[in-house]
Amino acid sequence: MVQLFHVYKQYDRESMALSDINLRFDKGEFVFVTGPSGAGKTTLLKMVFREEIPSRGQILVGGRNIALMPLSKLYLLRRNIGVVFQDFKLLKRRTILDNICFALQIVGCPARAQKQRAFAVLKMVGLQHKMQSYPLQLSGGEQQRVAIARALANEPPVLLADEPTGNLDPELAREIMKLFEDINAHGTTVLVATHNREIIRTMGKRTVTLDRGRVVDDTLKATEAL
Ligand SMILES: Nc1ncnc2c1ncn2[C@@H]1O[C@H](COP(=O)(O)OP(=O)(O)O)[C@@H](O)[C@H]1O
Ligand SMILES: [Mg+2]
Repeated sequence: MVQLFHVYKQYDRESMALSDINLRFDKGEFVFVTGPSGAGKTTLLKMVFREEIPSRGQILVGGRNIALMPLSKLYLLRRNIGVVFQDFKLLKRRTILDNICFALQIVGCPARAQKQRAFAVLKMVGLQHKMQSYPLQLSGGEQQRVAIARALANEPPVLLADEPTGNLDPELAREIMKLFEDINAHGTTVLVATHNREIIRTMGKRTVTLDRGRVVDDTLKATEAL
């Protein structure tokens, strides 16, 4: 489903953000990407979404080399990938419900279906009662859940989340992870970048560890949950 072949990323002359990355994420997998700050986690996710392009190597999503997609076809890729980045970028002047409807409109969801779908995903993250609120009326954790709902609204086959629990207390972080597990159980491939060892330890999922731009470990961790 997502394959990286000898992928390198160099932002500037001095350093290599990613070096010779060879990875394969199968349909329906749940994978953590971890490693210290600056290891290349965000860069890796951004390249799968084609927010960045590899300096060398190839990335295939659904068998297609995404670097070769013309800009006019990029929406086809983006429609299939939901993303949750750390700054959730909600539209401040729109209600929670409208934020999600707007995202659905962009990917071509018919107007009639937008509200229905938006309501369904808000319910999934437990925020249906806040649908008429504005982002700034919500706590950081609630805004994060709205961003996740928005990423899932069009049921993308792939979900990318970059430090999705970075701003959340441990209990909320666990709730978000449960939500990702649910989504994954329904068939969505989930890639989560996090440096939160505690979450990784309790989830028992495949974990790719990066260090200074290289894969140094790729294992299925045994669940050590209490
Ligand atoms: N837009 C950019 N321009 C230049 N260097 C960057 C840029 N983004 C990231 N880097 C560098 O690439 C390396 C990997 O960064 P990043 O992917 O953000 O790592 P992580 O998410 O694991 O903290 C770091 O050395 C970082 O400074
Ligand atoms: Mg990062």
